[in-house]
Amino acid sequence: MGAFADPFYGNVPDRKMTVSELIRALRLNIAAEEEATALYEAHADATDNPIAKKVLLDVANEERVHVGEFIELINILTRCEEEAWIANGAVEVREMAEEVARGDLNPANPFEKAEKESPECINELTVGSLKP
Ligand SMILES: [Fe+2]
Repeated sequence: MGAFADPFYGNVPDRKMTVSELIRALRLNIAAEEEATALYEAHADATDNPIAKKVLLDVANEERVHVGEFIELINILTRCEEEAWIANGAVEVREMAEEVARGDLNPANPFEKAEKESPECINELTVGSLKP
């Protein structure tokens, strides 16, 4: 687990955290919950024991609830700014999903774009030739 930029990681500070430090600590907590979820799912996938599989997946789902709790707490501490960023990300993904559904190529990939526009010269492209 990466410690991100948390100056208090592994230490108990001799003062209380500021709000911004608390938000960073909560982001680290979210990462820990996500890591735990991935670990429990991997262990569930790696066993045929039905009881162990059921317990591991149940605990993995509890970690997802904890992620939601931390996200909501960050949202409260940021006065709903976090919710706006997350909603913006959701809109971006929906737009990309619509592009994919229409059969559009990924405009972020210049080689795909160039191939679509002039397939005959795709082999002439270099990284340097793609610079604006
Ligand atoms: Fe948890």
